[in-house]
Amino acid sequence: MTSKYRVEYALKSHRRDQFIEWVKGLLISPFVLFSQPAGGFEDVDAVFAQNSAEVRRRYAEIMRGIEDMIDEHRELQSLQDPQPSRLKMLVPTVGPFFTALPLEAAFMYQDSRRHISSRRLVAPSFNDVRLTLNTAQLMALTGKGGKKDAASSSRSKSDPIQLVTFDGDLTLYEDGQNLEPSSPLIPRIMTLLGRNIKVGIVTAAGYDAAEKYYERLHGLLRAVHDSKDLTDAQKHSLLVVGGEANFVFSYSSTAPDNVLLAPVDPADWMPEEMKQWPTGELTELLDLAETTLRACVERMQLPAQILRKARAVGIIPNQRKNARGPNDLIQMARESLEEVVLTVQKRLEVSAAGRGGRVPFCAFNGGRDVFVDIGDKSWGVLICQHALLFLGKSNSAEAPPDPLQVAHPGTTLHVGDQFLSAGANDFRARRAATTAWVSNPLETEALLDELLALLDSA
Ligand code: IMP
Ligand code: MG
Repeated sequence: MTSKYRVEYALKSHRRDQFIEWVKGLLISPFVLFSQPAGGFEDVDAVFAQNSAEVRRRYAEIMRGIEDMIDEHRELQSLQDPQPSRLKMLVPTVGPFFTALPLEAAFMYQDSRRHISSRRLVAPSFNDVRLTLNTAQLMALTGKGGKKDAASSSRSKSDPIQLVTFDGDLTLYEDGQNLEPSSPLIPRIMTLLGRNIKVGIVTAAGYDAAEKYYERLHGLLRAVHDSKDLTDAQKHSLLVVGGEANFVFSYSSTAPDNVLLAPVDPADWMPEEMKQWPTGELTELLDLAETTLRACVERMQLPAQILRKARAVGIIPNQRKNARGPNDLIQMARESLEEVVLTVQKRLEVSAAGRGGRVPFCAFNGGRDVFVDIGDKSWGVLICQHALLFLGKSNSAEAPPDPLQVAHPGTTLHVGDQFLSAGANDFRARRAATTAWVSNPLETEALLDELLALLDSA
């Protein structure tokens, strides 16, 4: 590999989503054709409206073309011996799509809000495309947007959404904060539960004690506990998975110390495959990760210390001089954090334990820290899907759910903020669920409003 390629790769590719970049590239032609490089003000006459309508038509047409390519990709991916689709050849990093995506309808919706086709000086952006994809995913999961499910033509529309899983930091609350009772997300999550949609919180934050999760999530847990509207079964449809996929708790009104969470018996949640993870390799991975992290801290003189746990190892920042509290920490440069992630990721990938691929691991930049966890969020989401079979069974008089009616990738939505391919931990959830990519809790709020409105619309 030439050094130029390595530098390009190391600097850029982990900070780009290739599918979104490709869509952006396709949208650029209508933008250029109708752009106003001189910055003229056509908005004084009817030409502007006419041009906007034409640009909108062309953007929508492109979106419909991509929609068709995704249908073709889905048909091919469902074959016994899958063939590469046109989409796969154009965007080699693209993975499976668990639902069709009504991109044209989603674009029209986002255009009505963001006025993308009325812009002449700013081209369709990463965020325009990301939010359009989110909308398309919500439409697909609620059977809206007029899109037929191409991979199962016998069904007229997708199965309804069964499970929503949320990342914690930067999705439900700001980095390192808690889900306080005043959070506007709480009533929206309660509405999901009230509609019999299960909710999982799948966070990297890894603790084996329920108290720690209560501290982070107390606003939601108390609201669920105090609710007069939710049934017992609905309350018990709330699951917390910590350390990516290592610790599982469900809502419990009788938990000791009033922490409203009780550990779930691994027999009820642990998928068969996970039981086979060899302990020797797991320890080997963590030991090597620890040595590598230590070397990075030394090499770059980082103001950080190593934190080793049973199923994770990380570097966490030191407190500032004259710190005003335990959370007054030094902010390490983003570049340093990324260097650490890429170094440890590569080191583990080429190690004997990592190459075997028997124990999944996840190295990521948490914004203020770096962690290497055993397991990843695809397993976290899978655990939620698996545990749904058991949740509520022993706590209500209702019959256990039909396994065919519970969540699978095409009826699950994972909402998170970290979807870049390296150094991001929500990315792996794409293997187990459809996803929505938010950049902060305010966007999560808007996304839930969009989802609830779609569910309400007949
Ligand atoms: P998430 O965004 O909810 O997945 O939480 C990620 C954050 O949890 C990290 O950035 C860390 O600050 C924190 N954290 C605490 N313990 C762990 C751990 O064992 N593994 C990974 N992250 C942890
Ligand atoms: Mg996060």
